[in-house]
Amino acid sequence: KPYVIGLDLGGTNSVFGIVDARGDIKATTAIKTGGYSNVDDYVAASVEALQPIIEQVGGIEKIKAMGIGAPNGNYYNGTIEFAPNLPWAHNGVVPLAKLFSDALGIPVALTNDANAAAIGEMVYGVARGMKNFIVITLGTGVGSGIVVNGQLLYGHDGFAGELGHVTMVRGEEGRACGCGRTGCLECYCSATGVARTAREMLAKTDRPSLLRDMNPEDITSLDVSIAAGKGDELAKDIYEFTGKMLGEACADFAAFSSPEAFIFFGGMVKAGELIMKPIREAYDAHVLKIFKNKAKFLVSGLDGASAAVLGASAIGWEV
Ligand code: BGC
Ligand code: NA
Ligand code: ZN
Repeated sequence: KPYVIGLDLGGTNSVFGIVDARGDIKATTAIKTGGYSNVDDYVAASVEALQPIIEQVGGIEKIKAMGIGAPNGNYYNGTIEFAPNLPWAHNGVVPLAKLFSDALGIPVALTNDANAAAIGEMVYGVARGMKNFIVITLGTGVGSGIVVNGQLLYGHDGFAGELGHVTMVRGEEGRACGCGRTGCLECYCSATGVARTAREMLAKTDRPSLLRDMNPEDITSLDVSIAAGKGDELAKDIYEFTGKMLGEACADFAAFSSPEAFIFFGGMVKAGELIMKPIREAYDAHVLKIFKNKAKFLVSGLDGASAAVLGASAIGWEV
């Protein structure tokens, strides 16, 4: 069978691709991830959206399997567990691989969304030929895929690599995280974290900023990036703050797995040096001497969605 389906299940959008063995995406479709009160409705909407693109490649007989990359995904069990950013999965264990498999009649594999991005980079992207690297996704949440000695790290229970939830700020000041704890990297460096930083900085000072023209509640990380691009000093400081925290976190991650590269994904890194420079500087200032000037800091070459679709499809070939 010539194709697999890859699904990049993000906090906001779910992107499906039908992919051939060379990694060419033959057809795509997408639905909003939210807006469903339960997982059965989400799966039904997905299957409906998939129908026309499945027909386009000759029907379900042509499709070997499906691979899914999802927040809080567990590769061992094919489940999503306690996903704070998924309305229909935040409260328990959702057997998503089985639900899709029953609905489509094909085998389905599932892994963490950032793991899927890491596999996509390893097989088709900037990590080709690398045996040790960490992908960090900056989206609705902060995710990571850790590759050590050429293999994705899954750990004892299949959840290894939840680097978005390392504690960056201890104690009372730490921001509340969707995971129920406080001070996680994700609360500061996700797209929503950046918007939160913007609101805090605007409230704390009376510095002028283009962002003051907006209702604070409506500010998104994209607005911050647009303002920074126009030279807005406050917006640039928001990136500086975000990059610094990411760089400090990466310095600790280096001590853990000695990666050859850190690869970043997400709308925010399209801001380029505005964020990458403070990341590198904070990394150099914090990392152990033995790791200094060794790791590369890269931005995904594939665009975020397709890397995760491709990575998800890659695990589909293996079921
Ligand atoms: C979840 C991760 C996920 C990341 C990005 C985090 O909140 O814990 O599993 O990879 O968001 O979606
Ligand atoms: Na992960
Ligand atoms: Zn957290």
